[in-house]
Amino acid sequence: MKKSAVITLAIAGFMLSFASQAKDATHFKPTATIQQIMSSIVDPNIDFVWNSVATISTKSGVEEKSPHTDEEWAEVKKHALTVLEASNLLIIDGRKVAEEGANTSSAGSTELKSTDIQKLIKTHKSEFNQRALGLHDAMQLVVNAIDKKDTEELIRTGGLVDQACENCHLQFWYPIHKSK
Ligand code: HEC
Repeated sequence: MKKSAVITLAIAGFMLSFASQAKDATHFKPTATIQQIMSSIVDPNIDFVWNSVATISTKSGVEEKSPHTDEEWAEVKKHALTVLEASNLLIIDGRKVAEEGANTSSAGSTELKSTDIQKLIKTHKSEFNQRALGLHDAMQLVVNAIDKKDTEELIRTGGLVDQACENCHLQFWYPIHKSK
């Protein structure tokens, strides 16, 4: 066989294996809606993190509520990591905002309908992704604070997370409130 034919065959073989790899490639299967991710994953887990610390004023002075044992800190970290990674779920293309007919407005008509949110996300996907990454990066700071078992820092970075939630909600969920 001529050298060039061998090379051609080798290239063809390489391309075939490449093609079959592409065919076997695993794809995301986004199933839950954004609404379900919010109410089942993001909200309950960030609440656990936020509620793990507090400054409580009592008659005898100011008390700090915070995780104490290693186990308690480890538990808070589990919930923080869940929210951190949930930010990536929001970036996956093809996810529906809500089930057909689901109510995405809890405060009268001030919040957009899911079909409007869906359109807004479609036309501003890179901004939506940036908002999701904003949540990711704020959560990274929370995880760092947990690793240092630093209560003050956990309270501070918890506030940054709150802002990251609001930044996305203000743009995509209730932009009508923007002027506030
Ligand atoms: C990248 C965008 C984005 C980020 C970041 C984000 N959300 Fe949302 N969230 C949405 C959208 C869009 C909706 C509106 C759809 C809906 O009603 O669920 C929503 C709705 C919600 C809802 C209402 C769910 C329901 O039952 O209708 C809650 C609660 C919520 N978000 C909590 C949070 C919290 C807490 C954070 C931060 C830790 C957060 N979200 C961060 C996009 C985001």
